[in-house]
Amino acid sequence: MQVKGSKVLVTGGASGMGRAFTLALARDGADVAFCDLSEDGIAETEAAAADLPGIVKGFIANVANEAQVVDLINQSWDALGGLDVLVNNAGIFRDGLLVKQDRETGEVRRFPLAKWQQVIDVDLTGPFLMTREFAAKIIESRGKGGVVVNISSVARHGNMGQSNYSAAKAGLVADTKLWAGELARYGIRTGAIAPGFIDTPILQGMPPEMLERLIKGVPLRRAGSPEEIYTAVKFIIECDYFTGRCIDVDGGLTL
Ligand SMILES: NC(=O)c1ccc[n+]([C@@H]2O[C@H](COP(=O)([O-])OP(=O)(O)OC[C@H]3O[C@@H](n4cnc5c(N)ncnc54)[C@H](O)[C@@H]3O)[C@@H](O)[C@H]2O)c1
Repeated sequence: MQVKGSKVLVTGGASGMGRAFTLALARDGADVAFCDLSEDGIAETEAAAADLPGIVKGFIANVANEAQVVDLINQSWDALGGLDVLVNNAGIFRDGLLVKQDRETGEVRRFPLAKWQQVIDVDLTGPFLMTREFAAKIIESRGKGGVVVNISSVARHGNMGQSNYSAAKAGLVADTKLWAGELARYGIRTGAIAPGFIDTPILQGMPPEMLERLIKGVPLRRAGSPEEIYTAVKFIIECDYFTGRCIDVDGGLTL
């Protein structure tokens, strides 16, 4: 499938990589619907896309809310006249150790269940709901197939302090593989991308000394750019013999 002329839905398009994907896809001639929680961020992405060749239309929707996902798929389908590609990009993290003992008091603090659940809801249940509704809509409309791109993370290999995030991002890669098997009969391909450290607001919010320490562990000695991750998104969309696999784009970082 060519990006040019395709109809794409991107989640989390009001910031970071989701905004970069939305703008790059529209620049390359796709029509793009995107969702996010932030009204201001949605307006900013739409304004940045004003002069691009593709249509760009934002919607408020929480990917972890089943009813909102159903509405989003219907609204974006109607706005673009169908959908060919889904990019499951929206994600959050809420880091912390599983247990942590206070050196002075001996008290053992437990990682809160609520923070575990928030990340599982957005980063794993979100892509599950989005992909289910995207696939169902294509099948019901007797569409010509499609592509699902899942944004995982290098943390999928297990990153200390990220029980919730690592589990969600590893689960997303497992689902990428099994959805490839389940959905191939409907002409739907899947692919995942596991980025390393990428220059987005998440990284920009880190203390500089912590960022420097993290970058030292990257063989290429720098963070990646959202555009470099877009290269992988475009590859997954355009390579018709690619499905079910995860591409690590991480500068060689090993956790
Ligand atoms: N930046 C990195 O270094 C990095 C590395 C590996 C993986 N990732 C993954 O890439 C994706 C994008 O990350 P980013 O760095 O661009 O983050 P970001 O915070 O800049 O953007 C994420 C966007 O998702 C939106 N969002 C959050 N929860 C949502 C929900 N429930 N429903 C709809 N939208 C929601 C946010 O409002 C935000 O606009 C995430 O899945 C993240 O886990 C990022």
